[in-house]
Amino acid sequence: MVAHVTTVAFIGIEARPVDVQVQIASGLPAFAVVGLPDKAVAESRERVRAALGAIGLALPPKRIIVNLAPADLPKEGSHYDLPIAVGLLMAMNVIPEDAIAEYVVLGELGLDGAIQAVPGVLPAAMAAMGLSKGLICPAASGPEAAWAGDISIVAAPSLIALANHFKGTQVLSRPLARPAEAPASGGLDLRDIKGQESAKRALEVAAAGGHNLLMIGPPGSGKSMLAARLPGILPALEPREALEVSMIQSLAGTLPGGRISLNRPFRNPHHSASMAALVGGGARARPGEVSLAHRGVLFLDELPEFSRQALDSLRQPLESGAAVVARAEAHITYPARVQLVAAMNPCRCGHLGDAALACARAPKCAGEYQARLSGPLLDRIDLHVDVPPVSAADLTLPPPAEGSAEVAARVEAARDLQRKRYAGTLASCNAEADGELLMEIASPDPQGRDLLQVAVEKLKLTARGYHRMLRVARTLADLEQCETVRRSHVAEALAYRRLIFTA
Ligand SMILES: Nc1ncnc2c1ncn2[C@@H]1O[C@H](COP(=O)(O)OP(=O)(O)OP(=O)(O)O)[C@@H](O)[C@H]1O
Ligand SMILES: [Mg+2]
Repeated sequence: MVAHVTTVAFIGIEARPVDVQVQIASGLPAFAVVGLPDKAVAESRERVRAALGAIGLALPPKRIIVNLAPADLPKEGSHYDLPIAVGLLMAMNVIPEDAIAEYVVLGELGLDGAIQAVPGVLPAAMAAMGLSKGLICPAASGPEAAWAGDISIVAAPSLIALANHFKGTQVLSRPLARPAEAPASGGLDLRDIKGQESAKRALEVAAAGGHNLLMIGPPGSGKSMLAARLPGILPALEPREALEVSMIQSLAGTLPGGRISLNRPFRNPHHSASMAALVGGGARARPGEVSLAHRGVLFLDELPEFSRQALDSLRQPLESGAAVVARAEAHITYPARVQLVAAMNPCRCGHLGDAALACARAPKCAGEYQARLSGPLLDRIDLHVDVPPVSAADLTLPPPAEGSAEVAARVEAARDLQRKRYAGTLASCNAEADGELLMEIASPDPQGRDLLQVAVEKLKLTARGYHRMLRVARTLADLEQCETVRRSHVAEALAYRRLIFTA
Protein backbone atom coordinates (compact mmCIF):
# COMPACT_ATOMS: atom_id res chain seq x y z
CA MET A 1 0.00 0.00 0.00
CA VAL A 2 1.18 3.55 -0.73
CA ALA A 3 0.11 6.39 1.58
CA HIS A 4 -0.23 9.84 0.02
CA VAL A 5 0.22 13.16 1.85
CA THR A 6 0.12 16.56 0.14
CA THR A 7 2.74 19.17 1.02
CA VAL A 8 4.30 22.09 -0.87
CA ALA A 9 7.64 23.14 -2.37
CA PHE A 10 8.43 26.85 -2.52
CA ILE A 11 9.42 28.39 -5.84
CA GLY A 12 9.77 32.11 -5.05
CA ILE A 13 6.60 33.01 -3.17
CA GLU A 14 4.66 30.39 -5.06
CA ALA A 15 3.91 27.14 -3.18
CA ARG A 16 3.69 24.17 -5.58
CA PRO A 17 1.91 21.02 -4.43
CA VAL A 18 4.14 18.02 -3.74
CA ASP A 19 2.80 14.50 -3.26
CA VAL A 20 4.66 12.63 -0.49
CA GLN A 21 4.30 8.92 -1.21
CA VAL A 22 5.23 6.48 1.54
CA GLN A 23 5.51 2.77 0.93
CA ILE A 24 6.35 0.05 3.43
CA ALA A 25 7.36 -2.99 1.40
CA SER A 26 8.86 -6.32 2.30
CA GLY A 27 12.60 -6.61 1.84
CA LEU A 28 15.76 -5.79 3.72
CA PRO A 29 15.19 -3.06 6.36
CA ALA A 30 15.90 0.34 4.81
CA PHE A 31 14.59 3.93 4.89
CA ALA A 32 15.18 5.97 1.73
CA VAL A 33 13.94 9.40 0.63
CA VAL A 34 13.97 10.00 -3.14
CA GLY A 35 12.75 12.84 -5.41
CA LEU A 36 15.59 15.41 -5.44
CA PRO A 37 15.81 16.04 -1.68
CA ASP A 38 18.44 18.50 -0.44
CA LYS A 39 20.52 17.83 2.68
CA ALA A 40 17.84 19.03 5.13
CA VAL A 41 15.23 16.76 3.52
CA ALA A 42 17.55 13.75 3.45
CA GLU A 43 18.31 14.26 7.14
CA SER A 44 14.61 14.23 7.95
CA ARG A 45 14.84 10.41 8.12
CA GLU A 46 16.68 10.65 11.41
CA ARG A 47 14.28 13.20 12.90
CA VAL A 48 11.23 11.20 11.78
CA ARG A 49 12.65 7.96 13.19
CA ALA A 50 13.39 9.63 16.55
CA ALA A 51 10.04 11.45 16.72
CA LEU A 52 8.09 8.26 16.08
CA GLY A 53 10.21 6.57 18.75
CA ALA A 54 9.29 9.37 21.15
CA ILE A 55 5.60 8.56 20.82
CA GLY A 56 6.28 4.86 21.34
CA LEU A 57 6.26 3.69 17.75
CA ALA A 58 9.17 1.86 16.17
CA LEU A 59 9.60 1.82 12.41
CA PRO A 60 8.77 -1.63 11.04
CA PRO A 61 11.89 -3.60 10.06
CA LYS A 62 10.95 -3.42 6.38
CA ARG A 63 11.90 -1.51 3.27
CA ILE A 64 10.52 2.04 3.59
CA ILE A 65 10.56 4.25 0.51
CA VAL A 66 9.50 7.90 0.56
CA ASN A 67 9.06 9.50 -2.87
CA LEU A 68 8.55 13.24 -3.23
CA ALA A 69 6.65 13.76 -6.50
CA PRO A 70 7.10 15.41 -8.96
CA ALA A 71 10.53 13.82 -8.77
CA ASP A 72 12.28 16.45 -10.93
CA LEU A 73 11.39 19.44 -8.72
CA PRO A 74 14.16 20.18 -6.19
CA LYS A 75 12.94 19.92 -2.56
CA GLU A 76 14.52 22.26 -0.01
CA GLY A 77 13.91 22.86 3.66
CA SER A 78 12.95 21.05 6.82
CA HIS A 79 9.17 21.27 6.41
CA TYR A 80 9.00 17.81 4.79
CA ASP A 81 9.53 16.09 8.19
CA LEU A 82 5.89 16.25 9.21
CA PRO A 83 4.35 15.03 5.93
CA ILE A 84 6.82 12.11 5.87
CA ALA A 85 5.97 11.22 9.48
CA VAL A 86 2.23 11.51 8.82
CA GLY A 87 2.61 9.31 5.71
CA LEU A 88 4.36 6.68 7.84
CA LEU A 89 1.63 6.86 10.50
CA MET A 90 -0.93 6.28 7.73
CA ALA A 91 1.04 3.39 6.26
CA MET A 92 1.26 1.90 9.78
CA ASN A 93 -2.53 2.38 10.17
CA VAL A 94 -2.15 4.70 13.15
CA ILE A 95 -4.19 7.51 11.59
CA PRO A 96 -6.92 7.11 8.96
CA GLU A 97 -5.95 7.92 5.39
CA ASP A 98 -9.17 9.63 4.31
CA ALA A 99 -8.85 12.26 7.08
CA ILE A 100 -5.40 13.42 5.90
CA ALA A 101 -6.37 13.52 2.21
CA GLU A 102 -8.19 16.80 2.85
CA TYR A 103 -5.07 18.60 4.12
CA VAL A 104 -1.78 20.13 3.02
CA VAL A 105 0.84 19.21 5.64
CA LEU A 106 4.08 20.97 6.60
CA GLY A 107 6.27 21.23 9.70
CA GLU A 108 9.63 20.31 11.18
CA LEU A 109 10.02 17.60 13.81
CA GLY A 110 12.17 17.63 16.92
CA LEU A 111 13.67 14.40 18.23
CA ASP A 112 11.12 14.47 21.07
CA GLY A 113 8.17 14.57 18.66
CA ALA A 114 7.52 18.30 18.99
CA ILE A 115 6.43 20.09 15.81
CA GLN A 116 8.55 23.16 15.21
CA ALA A 117 7.76 26.34 13.28
CA VAL A 118 8.89 26.56 9.66
CA PRO A 119 9.05 29.47 7.21
CA GLY A 120 6.44 29.81 4.47
CA VAL A 121 3.29 28.76 6.35
CA LEU A 122 1.24 31.68 5.00
CA PRO A 123 1.98 30.95 1.29
CA ALA A 124 1.34 27.26 2.02
CA ALA A 125 -2.04 28.11 3.54
CA MET A 126 -2.91 30.22 0.48
CA ALA A 127 -1.92 27.30 -1.76
CA ALA A 128 -4.06 24.94 0.36
CA MET A 129 -7.00 27.25 -0.15
CA GLY A 130 -6.38 27.14 -3.91
CA LEU A 131 -6.45 23.33 -3.75
CA SER A 132 -9.66 23.41 -1.64
CA LYS A 133 -7.87 21.67 1.20
CA GLY A 134 -7.16 22.45 4.84
CA LEU A 135 -3.72 22.89 6.44
CA ILE A 136 -1.83 20.93 9.09
CA CYS A 137 1.00 23.08 10.43
CA PRO A 138 3.08 23.70 13.59
CA ALA A 139 1.18 25.25 16.52
CA ALA A 140 3.56 28.22 16.55
CA SER A 141 2.70 29.02 12.90
CA GLY A 142 -1.08 28.67 13.39
CA PRO A 143 -1.92 32.38 13.79
CA GLU A 144 -0.03 33.11 10.57
CA ALA A 145 -1.93 30.41 8.64
CA ALA A 146 -5.26 31.72 9.92
CA TRP A 147 -4.80 34.87 7.81
CA ALA A 148 -5.21 32.88 4.60
CA GLY A 149 -8.97 32.79 5.04
CA ASP A 150 -11.72 30.33 5.63
CA ILE A 151 -9.92 26.98 5.57
CA SER A 152 -9.73 24.23 8.13
CA ILE A 153 -6.45 24.54 10.09
CA VAL A 154 -4.96 22.01 12.49
CA ALA A 155 -2.03 23.62 14.31
CA ALA A 156 -0.47 20.85 16.36
CA PRO A 157 2.22 21.30 19.03
CA SER A 158 3.44 17.69 18.74
CA LEU A 159 3.10 14.52 16.74
CA ILE A 160 1.17 12.82 19.55
CA ALA A 161 -1.35 15.70 19.72
CA LEU A 162 -1.83 15.44 15.97
CA ALA A 163 -2.37 11.67 16.08
CA ASN A 164 -4.84 12.09 18.96
CA HIS A 165 -6.69 14.80 17.04
CA PHE A 166 -7.33 12.47 14.13
CA LYS A 167 -8.24 9.57 16.43
CA GLY A 168 -10.76 11.92 18.08
CA THR A 169 -9.34 11.70 21.60
CA GLN A 170 -7.98 15.26 21.81
CA VAL A 171 -9.43 17.88 19.48
CA LEU A 172 -7.22 20.84 18.53
CA SER A 173 -9.17 24.08 18.04
CA ARG A 174 -8.61 26.33 15.04
CA PRO A 175 -5.96 29.00 15.71
CA LEU A 176 -7.05 32.63 15.64
CA ALA A 177 -5.52 35.26 13.38
CA ARG A 178 -3.77 37.75 15.64
CA PRO A 179 -4.91 41.31 15.00
CA ALA A 180 -2.70 43.41 12.80
CA GLU A 181 -0.58 46.01 14.53
CA ALA A 182 -1.78 49.57 14.28
CA PRO A 183 0.36 51.65 11.90
CA ALA A 184 3.19 53.12 13.92
CA SER A 185 6.02 55.48 13.11
CA GLY A 186 8.43 53.81 15.50
CA GLY A 187 8.41 56.89 17.72
CA LEU A 188 10.43 58.94 15.24
CA ASP A 189 8.95 62.30 14.29
CA LEU A 190 9.92 64.87 11.69
CA ARG A 191 9.70 67.43 14.48
CA ASP A 192 13.09 66.20 15.76
CA ILE A 193 14.80 67.65 12.69
CA LYS A 194 15.86 71.27 12.94
CA GLY A 195 16.04 73.33 9.76
CA GLN A 196 16.44 71.28 6.54
CA GLU A 197 13.11 72.59 5.27
CA SER A 198 13.85 71.81 1.62
CA ALA A 199 14.95 68.25 2.43
CA LYS A 200 11.80 67.69 4.50
CA ARG A 201 9.75 68.98 1.60
CA ALA A 202 11.49 66.52 -0.74
CA LEU A 203 10.76 63.71 1.72
CA GLU A 204 7.09 64.67 1.68
CA VAL A 205 7.03 64.72 -2.13
CA ALA A 206 8.75 61.33 -2.23
CA ALA A 207 6.17 59.88 0.16
CA ALA A 208 3.25 61.43 -1.72
CA GLY A 209 4.20 60.10 -5.14
CA GLY A 210 6.21 56.99 -4.21
CA HIS A 211 9.32 58.53 -5.83
CA ASN A 212 12.86 57.30 -5.36
CA LEU A 213 14.97 59.84 -3.48
CA LEU A 214 18.70 60.59 -3.26
CA MET A 215 20.04 62.90 -0.53
CA ILE A 216 23.51 64.35 -0.90
CA GLY A 217 25.20 66.28 1.89
CA PRO A 218 28.07 66.53 4.36
CA PRO A 219 28.33 64.23 7.41
CA GLY A 220 25.99 64.96 10.30
CA SER A 221 23.50 67.04 8.35
CA GLY A 222 20.61 64.71 9.14
CA LYS A 223 20.29 62.48 6.03
CA SER A 224 19.98 59.22 7.95
CA MET A 225 17.62 60.94 10.38
CA LEU A 226 15.38 62.11 7.54
CA ALA A 227 15.24 58.68 5.90
CA ALA A 228 14.34 56.96 9.16
CA ARG A 229 11.30 59.22 9.43
CA LEU A 230 9.91 58.32 6.01
CA PRO A 231 7.88 55.26 7.19
CA GLY A 232 6.09 57.56 9.65
CA ILE A 233 4.59 59.66 6.85
CA LEU A 234 3.84 56.91 4.34
CA PRO A 235 0.24 55.71 3.97
CA ALA A 236 -0.63 52.36 5.60
CA LEU A 237 -0.61 49.21 3.48
CA GLU A 238 -3.91 48.15 1.95
CA PRO A 239 -5.07 44.68 3.11
CA ARG A 240 -4.14 43.07 -0.22
CA GLU A 241 -0.66 44.62 -0.08
CA ALA A 242 -0.23 43.61 3.57
CA LEU A 243 -0.87 39.98 2.61
CA GLU A 244 1.74 40.18 -0.19
CA VAL A 245 4.31 41.68 2.19
CA SER A 246 3.55 39.07 4.83
CA MET A 247 3.93 36.19 2.36
CA ILE A 248 7.51 37.31 1.69
CA GLN A 249 8.21 37.79 5.40
CA SER A 250 6.73 34.35 6.08
CA LEU A 251 9.11 32.78 3.54
CA ALA A 252 12.06 34.60 5.04
CA GLY A 253 10.93 33.46 8.50
CA THR A 254 10.70 37.04 9.77
CA LEU A 255 6.95 37.40 10.31
CA PRO A 256 6.91 38.49 13.97
CA GLY A 257 4.64 36.19 16.00
CA GLY A 258 2.41 35.49 13.01
CA ARG A 259 1.08 39.04 13.09
CA ILE A 260 0.33 40.80 9.86
CA SER A 261 1.43 44.40 9.97
CA LEU A 262 -0.06 47.30 8.03
CA ASN A 263 3.20 49.23 8.40
CA ARG A 264 5.25 49.57 5.26
CA PRO A 265 8.53 47.66 5.52
CA PHE A 266 11.69 49.72 5.98
CA ARG A 267 14.95 47.92 5.21
CA ASN A 268 18.39 49.47 5.52
CA PRO A 269 21.04 46.92 4.54
CA HIS A 270 24.63 47.70 5.45
CA HIS A 271 26.85 48.82 2.58
CA SER A 272 28.89 45.64 2.78
CA ALA A 273 25.81 43.72 1.55
CA SER A 274 26.48 41.32 -1.30
CA MET A 275 24.46 40.98 -4.47
CA ALA A 276 22.74 37.86 -3.08
CA ALA A 277 21.82 39.71 0.10
CA LEU A 278 20.28 42.55 -1.88
CA VAL A 279 18.34 40.78 -4.63
CA GLY A 280 18.06 37.27 -3.18
CA GLY A 281 19.57 33.89 -3.83
CA GLY A 282 22.46 32.13 -2.14
CA ALA A 283 22.85 28.46 -1.33
CA ARG A 284 19.21 28.29 -0.27
CA ALA A 285 17.02 30.64 -2.29
CA ARG A 286 15.90 33.41 0.03
CA PRO A 287 14.24 36.71 -0.72
CA GLY A 288 16.78 39.56 -0.67
CA GLU A 289 16.52 42.99 0.90
CA VAL A 290 14.82 44.42 -2.18
CA SER A 291 12.02 41.86 -1.79
CA LEU A 292 11.81 42.19 1.98
CA ALA A 293 11.22 45.91 1.33
CA HIS A 294 8.40 45.12 -1.15
CA ARG A 295 5.70 47.84 -0.99
CA GLY A 296 7.93 49.77 1.41
CA VAL A 297 11.26 51.57 1.60
CA LEU A 298 14.73 50.28 0.74
CA PHE A 299 17.19 52.69 2.33
CA LEU A 300 20.77 52.57 1.08
CA ASP A 301 22.85 54.74 3.38
CA GLU A 302 26.33 55.73 2.12
CA LEU A 303 25.35 54.74 -1.43
CA PRO A 304 28.82 54.91 -3.09
CA GLU A 305 30.23 52.51 -0.47
CA PHE A 306 28.08 49.64 -1.83
CA SER A 307 29.90 47.43 -4.30
CA ARG A 308 29.32 48.34 -7.90
CA GLN A 309 28.07 44.84 -8.66
CA ALA A 310 25.52 45.00 -5.83
CA LEU A 311 24.23 48.39 -6.95
CA ASP A 312 23.90 47.40 -10.57
CA SER A 313 21.99 44.27 -9.60
CA LEU A 314 19.29 46.60 -8.28
CA ARG A 315 18.66 48.19 -11.64
CA GLN A 316 16.45 45.40 -12.94
CA PRO A 317 14.23 45.08 -9.82
CA LEU A 318 13.81 48.86 -9.69
CA GLU A 319 12.65 48.86 -13.29
CA SER A 320 10.39 45.79 -13.28
CA GLY A 321 9.24 45.53 -9.65
CA ALA A 322 10.44 41.93 -9.41
CA ALA A 323 13.73 40.31 -8.45
CA VAL A 324 14.72 37.34 -10.60
CA VAL A 325 17.20 34.92 -9.04
CA ALA A 326 18.81 32.54 -11.51
CA ARG A 327 19.63 29.15 -10.05
CA ALA A 328 21.06 26.04 -11.58
CA GLU A 329 17.62 24.44 -11.88
CA ALA A 330 15.22 27.34 -12.27
CA HIS A 331 14.61 31.07 -12.31
CA ILE A 332 12.89 32.21 -9.14
CA THR A 333 10.97 35.47 -9.04
CA TYR A 334 10.22 37.43 -5.90
CA PRO A 335 8.10 40.59 -5.92
CA ALA A 336 10.22 43.70 -5.34
CA ARG A 337 8.28 46.92 -5.80
CA VAL A 338 10.22 49.30 -3.59
CA GLN A 339 10.75 52.97 -3.02
CA LEU A 340 14.50 53.50 -3.04
CA VAL A 341 15.89 56.12 -0.68
CA ALA A 342 19.63 56.69 -0.77
CA ALA A 343 21.98 58.99 1.11
CA MET A 344 25.57 59.91 0.35
CA ASN A 345 28.33 62.39 1.03
CA PRO A 346 29.46 64.42 -1.97
CA CYS A 347 33.07 63.18 -1.61
CA ARG A 348 35.16 60.97 0.64
CA CYS A 349 35.86 63.61 3.31
CA GLY A 350 32.28 64.79 2.91
CA HIS A 351 32.92 68.52 2.97
CA LEU A 352 33.16 69.37 -0.71
CA GLY A 353 32.48 73.07 -1.26
CA ASP A 354 33.33 74.06 2.32
CA ALA A 355 36.79 75.58 2.08
CA ALA A 356 37.34 75.44 5.85
CA LEU A 357 36.62 71.72 6.23
CA ALA A 358 37.33 70.14 2.84
CA CYS A 359 40.43 67.98 2.51
CA ALA A 360 43.38 68.88 0.32
CA ARG A 361 42.22 66.68 -2.54
CA ALA A 362 38.88 68.46 -3.05
CA PRO A 363 37.36 68.87 -5.57
CA LYS A 364 39.23 66.14 -7.46
CA CYS A 365 38.25 63.37 -5.07
CA ALA A 366 34.55 64.16 -5.54
CA GLY A 367 34.71 63.07 -9.17
CA GLU A 368 36.21 59.72 -8.23
CA TYR A 369 33.80 59.18 -5.36
CA GLN A 370 30.69 60.03 -7.33
CA ALA A 371 31.81 58.00 -10.35
CA ARG A 372 31.17 54.83 -8.33
CA LEU A 373 27.49 55.33 -9.11
CA SER A 374 26.29 54.36 -12.53
CA GLY A 375 24.24 56.72 -14.67
CA PRO A 376 21.40 54.23 -15.21
CA LEU A 377 20.96 53.81 -11.43
CA LEU A 378 20.86 57.58 -10.88
CA ASP A 379 18.42 57.84 -13.75
CA ARG A 380 15.93 55.73 -11.82
CA ILE A 381 15.86 58.25 -8.99
CA ASP A 382 13.20 60.93 -9.47
CA LEU A 383 14.23 63.29 -6.68
CA HIS A 384 17.78 64.47 -6.04
CA VAL A 385 18.22 66.84 -3.11
CA ASP A 386 21.08 68.65 -1.55
CA VAL A 387 21.11 68.46 2.26
CA PRO A 388 23.37 71.32 3.42
CA PRO A 389 25.02 71.44 6.88
CA VAL A 390 22.68 72.61 9.65
CA SER A 391 23.51 76.14 10.70
CA ALA A 392 24.04 77.11 14.34
CA ALA A 393 20.99 79.35 14.11
CA ASP A 394 18.82 76.43 12.99
CA LEU A 395 20.00 74.21 15.82
CA THR A 396 18.95 76.69 18.50
CA LEU A 397 15.46 77.13 17.00
CA PRO A 398 12.49 75.74 18.95
CA PRO A 399 11.03 72.52 17.45
CA PRO A 400 8.99 73.17 14.30
CA ALA A 401 5.21 73.37 14.70
CA GLU A 402 4.59 70.78 12.04
CA GLY A 403 5.38 67.13 12.72
CA SER A 404 4.92 63.77 10.99
CA ALA A 405 1.15 63.65 11.65
CA GLU A 406 0.43 66.82 9.64
CA VAL A 407 2.69 65.76 6.77
CA ALA A 408 1.18 62.25 6.74
CA ALA A 409 -2.31 63.74 6.35
CA ARG A 410 -1.25 65.69 3.23
CA VAL A 411 0.50 62.61 1.84
CA GLU A 412 -2.62 60.51 2.40
CA ALA A 413 -4.81 63.08 0.59
CA ALA A 414 -2.41 63.10 -2.38
CA ARG A 415 -2.34 59.29 -2.47
CA ASP A 416 -6.13 59.26 -2.43
CA LEU A 417 -6.21 61.27 -5.66
CA GLN A 418 -3.73 58.85 -7.20
CA ARG A 419 -5.71 55.79 -6.14
CA LYS A 420 -8.75 57.13 -7.99
CA ARG A 421 -6.68 58.19 -11.01
CA TYR A 422 -4.87 54.88 -11.46
CA ALA A 423 -7.81 52.56 -10.74
CA GLY A 424 -7.81 49.99 -13.53
CA THR A 425 -4.26 50.77 -14.75
CA LEU A 426 -0.98 49.01 -14.04
CA ALA A 427 0.39 51.94 -12.03
CA SER A 428 -0.56 52.63 -8.42
CA CYS A 429 1.21 55.94 -7.79
CA ASN A 430 2.77 58.78 -9.80
CA ALA A 431 6.25 57.24 -9.68
CA GLU A 432 4.96 54.23 -11.62
CA ALA A 433 3.23 56.21 -14.39
CA ASP A 434 5.01 56.00 -17.73
CA GLY A 435 4.67 56.60 -21.46
CA GLU A 436 1.24 57.51 -22.80
CA LEU A 437 -0.38 57.42 -19.37
CA LEU A 438 2.14 59.92 -18.00
CA MET A 439 1.63 62.30 -20.93
CA GLU A 440 -2.10 62.13 -20.42
CA ILE A 441 -2.14 62.84 -16.69
CA ALA A 442 0.83 65.18 -16.25
CA SER A 443 0.77 67.56 -19.21
CA PRO A 444 1.25 71.06 -17.78
CA ASP A 445 -0.87 74.13 -18.61
CA PRO A 446 0.47 76.52 -21.37
CA GLN A 447 2.67 78.56 -18.97
CA GLY A 448 4.10 75.37 -17.54
CA ARG A 449 4.75 74.05 -21.01
CA ASP A 450 6.71 77.20 -21.93
CA LEU A 451 8.91 76.83 -18.89
CA LEU A 452 9.42 73.16 -19.65
CA GLN A 453 10.45 73.99 -23.21
CA VAL A 454 13.14 76.39 -21.99
CA ALA A 455 14.32 73.91 -19.37
CA VAL A 456 14.70 71.07 -21.85
CA GLU A 457 16.92 73.27 -24.03
CA LYS A 458 18.94 75.01 -21.32
CA LEU A 459 19.45 71.99 -19.05
CA LYS A 460 19.73 69.54 -21.94
CA LEU A 461 17.24 67.18 -20.32
CA THR A 462 17.16 63.66 -21.72
CA ALA A 463 13.85 61.99 -22.52
CA ARG A 464 14.09 60.11 -19.23
CA GLY A 465 14.90 63.30 -17.34
CA TYR A 466 11.89 64.94 -18.96
CA HIS A 467 9.55 62.17 -17.85
CA ARG A 468 11.06 62.17 -14.38
CA MET A 469 10.24 65.84 -14.09
CA LEU A 470 6.67 65.41 -15.29
CA ARG A 471 6.06 62.71 -12.67
CA VAL A 472 7.37 64.91 -9.87
CA ALA A 473 5.35 67.91 -11.11
CA ARG A 474 2.21 65.73 -11.06
CA THR A 475 2.88 64.81 -7.42
CA LEU A 476 3.45 68.45 -6.49
CA ALA A 477 0.06 69.31 -8.02
CA ASP A 478 -1.55 66.40 -6.14
CA LEU A 479 -0.14 67.67 -2.85
CA GLU A 480 -2.02 70.91 -3.50
CA GLN A 481 -5.12 68.97 -4.61
CA CYS A 482 -4.74 70.73 -7.95
CA GLU A 483 -6.21 69.15 -11.10
CA THR A 484 -3.79 70.79 -13.60
CA VAL A 485 0.00 70.86 -13.45
CA ARG A 486 0.96 74.55 -13.25
CA ARG A 487 4.12 76.53 -13.93
CA SER A 488 4.97 76.63 -10.21
CA HIS A 489 4.88 72.82 -10.05
CA VAL A 490 7.17 72.51 -13.06
CA ALA A 491 9.54 75.06 -11.52
CA GLU A 492 9.78 73.15 -8.24
CA ALA A 493 10.17 69.82 -10.06
CA LEU A 494 13.13 71.30 -11.95
CA ALA A 495 14.85 71.94 -8.62
CA TYR A 496 14.93 68.18 -7.94
CA ARG A 497 16.98 67.37 -11.02
CA ARG A 498 20.14 65.33 -11.04
CA LEU A 499 23.07 66.83 -9.13
CA ILE A 500 25.62 64.18 -10.08
CA PHE A 501 26.72 63.71 -13.64
CA THR A 502 28.65 60.55 -14.32
CA ALA A 503 31.16 60.43 -17.09
N1 LIG B 1 18.79 68.84 11.20
C1 LIG B 1 19.11 68.29 12.38
N2 LIG B 1 18.38 68.57 13.47
C2 LIG B 1 18.69 68.01 14.66
N3 LIG B 1 19.74 67.16 14.86
C3 LIG B 1 20.49 66.85 13.81
C4 LIG B 1 20.23 67.40 12.52
N4 LIG B 1 21.15 66.91 11.68
C5 LIG B 1 21.93 66.09 12.39
N5 LIG B 1 21.57 66.06 13.68
C6 LIG B 1 22.24 65.30 14.74
O1 LIG B 1 23.37 64.68 14.16
C7 LIG B 1 23.32 63.29 14.24
C8 LIG B 1 23.78 62.67 12.96
O2 LIG B 1 22.84 62.86 11.94
P1 LIG B 1 22.68 61.83 10.73
O3 LIG B 1 23.17 60.50 11.13
O4 LIG B 1 21.32 61.91 10.21
O5 LIG B 1 23.70 62.49 9.71
P2 LIG B 1 24.04 62.05 8.24
O6 LIG B 1 23.70 63.20 7.37
O7 LIG B 1 23.38 60.78 7.94
O8 LIG B 1 25.60 61.89 8.31
P3 LIG B 1 26.57 60.86 7.55
O9 LIG B 1 26.79 61.44 6.20
O10 LIG B 1 27.80 60.87 8.37
O11 LIG B 1 25.90 59.55 7.52
C9 LIG B 1 21.88 62.97 14.57
O12 LIG B 1 21.78 61.82 15.35
C10 LIG B 1 21.40 64.19 15.30
O13 LIG B 1 21.69 64.07 16.67
MG1 LIG C 1 24.11 58.84 7.69
